[in-house]
Amino acid sequence: MNAKDRLIVALDVDSRARAEELVGELAPHVGMFKVGKELFTAEGPEMVRSIVSAGGRVFLDLKFHDIPNTVAKAVGTASRLGAFFVTVHTAGGRAMLEAAASALPAEGTQLLGVTVLTSHTDATLREVGARGTVAETVRQLAILARDSGIDGVVCSPHEIGLIRETVGDDMVIVTPGIRPRGSAKGDQARVMTPGEALRLGCDYMVVGRPITEAASPQDAAQAIVEEISRG
Ligand code: C5P
Repeated sequence: MNAKDRLIVALDVDSRARAEELVGELAPHVGMFKVGKELFTAEGPEMVRSIVSAGGRVFLDLKFHDIPNTVAKAVGTASRLGAFFVTVHTAGGRAMLEAAASALPAEGTQLLGVTVLTSHTDATLREVGARGTVAETVRQLAILARDSGIDGVVCSPHEIGLIRETVGDDMVIVTPGIRPRGSAKGDQARVMTPGEALRLGCDYMVVGRPITEAASPQDAAQAIVEEISRG
């Protein structure tokens, strides 16, 4: 995979006009665009169609978590919209994950599982009934995802090593919390540079504000792609 294809830009904006402006500027420089809950709630499936029809790949990050039939239908719909990646919560369980995987054609849309949200701590996980630590739960859910036919995992850069060691090379790893050398951290407390994440075994990285809020988003994206290609 070339360096550009590894870079996913998070379109964390609330209007289709601003998102399309960014897509137009960035399409030659990045591999994919992440549409999350904010943009999707504001602009709906037309936003996804617009990016796909402009030739862009879409990571539709809606983190589905519901009964198996509902998630399977939602994932199938996302696939027909043309999404390249779609996210589900692995805590939805084996039946939900298997139903989601079997709703997709063999080629095309890939499913990514979210294990433990990085906003959790060992204490807050206990509050919602988990028995293990964050690390133990991440490991357990990554295995469940792999065994249920999920293609990859979204995780913090600090979990890349743990997940690679647990699932081997069988799964795609996608990581946010990436900051190019010398940039502001924003509200991301524990960040990593693109080179560090790559060396630990991540396949794709999600970068938002360091690109979307830069004076020149194109230059910022290009600098990150160069950092990725240097490894
Ligand atoms: O602007 P920034 O680069 O921090 O954006 C990162 C993107 O990745 C955002 O869309 C954010 O919601 C997402 N994300 C994250 N940390 C997680 C999970 C998702 O930053 N643990």
